[in-house]
Amino acid sequence: MNDRNPERGPRRDGRPPRRDDAPGSLPPEAFSDHKLTELHSRLARDKEEPSEGFSSTPVFLVFLLCALGFWAGVYLTRNAGGFSAKTFDLNAPKVAATAGPKAFVADPKKGMELFNAQCASCHQPTGLGLAGVFPPLAGSDWIDGDNERTLKIVLAGIAGEMKVKGNTYNGNMPAIGAALKDAQVAHIVSYVNQAWGNAQPAVTDAQVAEVRKKIGARGQYSPKEILAEHPLK
Ligand code: HEC
Repeated sequence: MNDRNPERGPRRDGRPPRRDDAPGSLPPEAFSDHKLTELHSRLARDKEEPSEGFSSTPVFLVFLLCALGFWAGVYLTRNAGGFSAKTFDLNAPKVAATAGPKAFVADPKKGMELFNAQCASCHQPTGLGLAGVFPPLAGSDWIDGDNERTLKIVLAGIAGEMKVKGNTYNGNMPAIGAALKDAQVAHIVSYVNQAWGNAQPAVTDAQVAEVRKKIGARGQYSPKEILAEHPLK
């Protein structure tokens, strides 16, 4: 060993080296060949035994792969274009750009929801009304294919004595449709025309807009007035 090392070597004053000369250092005799060999073999022995089989995958890698798989799924769902080759055909006709305004199609489900919200409190979800108070819409002779009559009643309301299916009513229906959009009124009246065994044609939003424009801002109809314009069959 290097005796001239002032840290480890014998002290200049000739006294035997002290353990605490250099904190943490081993005394020179610890580095004899014999000791070194022993130290080496001890270190070699203390090493971890190599184990058989697979080492477990780091957990974060598992998560990373799951996240990647999820992202790939979302990406494919959004961008696969139904796996159709046409998706990437640059010469394919641009449907959205050339198509005109979408034709109105009455939706029975929307019609029923709107009817239940706007009309059913009086005419009942069954369309049967309430005896003596609210006239029935199911099988009503007022709903006979003359959609303009029905639309006028819904848009402007009606009040006064009237006969429906042989019974007399003298009630007051407010202008429910005045606060609704054309399409909403079209869904409702189409539903009324075809629910509970009624079999009348559906109504479009354009037809509603036309009748709304024709009657303008006005008060409720009286049954007499509306029957003069649209007599019952
Ligand atoms: C506040 C209660 C009330 C609401 C809400 C109401 N109605 Fe009426 N409706 C009446 C009454 C009352 C009459 C009869 C009026 C009369 O006696 O002059 C009537 C009459 C009618 C008639 C003509 C008579 C018949 O039975 O065929 C139709 C059609 C009609 N309503 C459709 C509707 C539709 C569609 C709605 C929903 C958009 C609606 N009503 C909402 C109370 C109501």
